[in-house]
Amino acid sequence: MKLPIYLAQDTIQSRVQDLANQIGREGENLLFIAVMKGAGVFFADLIRSLPFPLRHTSEYEFVELKSYKGTQAVSEPYFVKTPPKSCKGKNVIIVDGIVDTGKTLKTLLNVLPEQEPASIKTCVLLDKKCKRATNVLLDYYGFIIPDEFVIGYGLDYNDKYRCLPDIHIYDGSKET
Ligand code: IMP
Ligand code: MG
Repeated sequence: MKLPIYLAQDTIQSRVQDLANQIGREGENLLFIAVMKGAGVFFADLIRSLPFPLRHTSEYEFVELKSYKGTQAVSEPYFVKTPPKSCKGKNVIIVDGIVDTGKTLKTLLNVLPEQEPASIKTCVLLDKKCKRATNVLLDYYGFIIPDEFVIGYGLDYNDKYRCLPDIHIYDGSKET
């Protein structure tokens, strides 16, 4: 099955490098927290694009939240893997692949302050801004996209299609 490309690998890579360069102006003592599983591919590219000295000094951890089945959120976001206990005094940057309503990010932003990080910022590749239902601030974002369900580059439909290197609009009618 050949899917039309919405965002091609090279377009994504050059934007990821921009974001890494912007984050490179942050102070040190960074702790990246990737929101699994959707952030996985973006996150791996982002951290390896960080300039010196952050590529030496930054740390990372993972959380996992779920709420979607197919193309719909079927519950409020809940933790499958809770945040690390090691955020105290760190400059945390939360990394996710896509923000839609913002509830997933908000759930994480609500609990992280308990860990007393020095600061908390957010970085997402795709911002489905028109769907926002919460007031989350995105400090870094790659692309603003319309209200379409997208797959590839870590983003899934029922856990499939994450391995595609480009990003595509999911069209259920062409499913094989
Ligand atoms: P939110 O909580 O509504 O902001 O949704 C965020 C989560 O929903 C993301 O971390 C994804 O797991 C999932 N999601 C939202 N929109 C899409 C999409 O278009 N493709 C794939 N996953 C999506
Ligand atoms: Mg998903």
